[in-house]
Amino acid sequence: MGNGIAHVSVLSGFDTILMDIKDEFVQRGLSTIQKNMDRQVKKEKISQSDMDTSINRLTLSTDYNQLTECELVIEAATENEDIKLNIFKILDDICIPETILASNTSSISINKIASATQRPEKVIGMHFMNPVPVMKLVEIVKGKETNNSITKRITDLSTQMGKIPVECNDSPGFVSNRILMPMINEAIFCLEEGVGTPEAIDTIMKLGMAHPMGPLTLADLIGLDICLSIINVLYTDFGDEKYRPCPLLVKKVNDGDLGRKTGKGFYNYNT
Ligand code: CAA
Repeated sequence: MGNGIAHVSVLSGFDTILMDIKDEFVQRGLSTIQKNMDRQVKKEKISQSDMDTSINRLTLSTDYNQLTECELVIEAATENEDIKLNIFKILDDICIPETILASNTSSISINKIASATQRPEKVIGMHFMNPVPVMKLVEIVKGKETNNSITKRITDLSTQMGKIPVECNDSPGFVSNRILMPMINEAIFCLEEGVGTPEAIDTIMKLGMAHPMGPLTLADLIGLDICLSIINVLYTDFGDEKYRPCPLLVKKVNDGDLGRKTGKGFYNYNT
């Protein structure tokens, strides 16, 4: 997600720092951006010179201190509450007071993230969809203390990035994943109970509901670890059995079969 956000950011004309904890992760981010921009050049969505200028706007870093003067930091770390809270504490300490701190979290409470900082009025959810260069939506999640002027700036910025921002309030899973994840979880129950093969389940949802991809293919794209952590947030925060993660999802994650990123999830990608 981080490389996708950096991709649209530089393509929209913003000087951008792509930061991660290890150089190899940053390099991997850059090569994904190059690959995806190449694809856009080949499809004549952008010119080669757009690509070159955009890549030149990108700075790679593994050092938080390079972020101190940024107008906006968009955090897109792994979907783990402790890690995110720690990142926001660090960002709050090092960034100038004007910096807006946004999170691309899929489900972790924006109010909780904001409470790790001394600037909750400048903390907001900026939830992009995968694959970021293609998907139009940015779900703008307002915390209870998010200032209206900050929401307006982030909404305008999302539009400048070629996206369509839609506002909602902070609540477990927000709107997108509160609705999407139970569907994916139910598809996994169908598979576990032998109601259908992965291909049958996906084809029924693709052709029957006009979804661009079936729920199991989509889960593999999102990452099964991410799906599990989101459904667990719904399960814990609402305390409702209807969000119980399917044991097959838990097993896949325990086995390290996380979807496309590991080459295997509900489908095999190594063949
Ligand atoms: N970067 C740049 N361009 C990309 C791309 C990428 N990573 N991935 C695909 N594209 C482009 C392709 O080049 C292609 O361009 P043209 O239209 O110019 O030909 C276009 O996107 C469509 O791609 P494909 O032809 O390869 O394949 P497709 O038609 O099957 O579309 C898809 C692929 C866009 C991923 C489509 O299947 C889709 O929309 N799937 C649903 C995705 C979805 O639901 N995402 C949300 C997930 S939930 C989430 O992200 C939030 C969360 O918190 C979990």
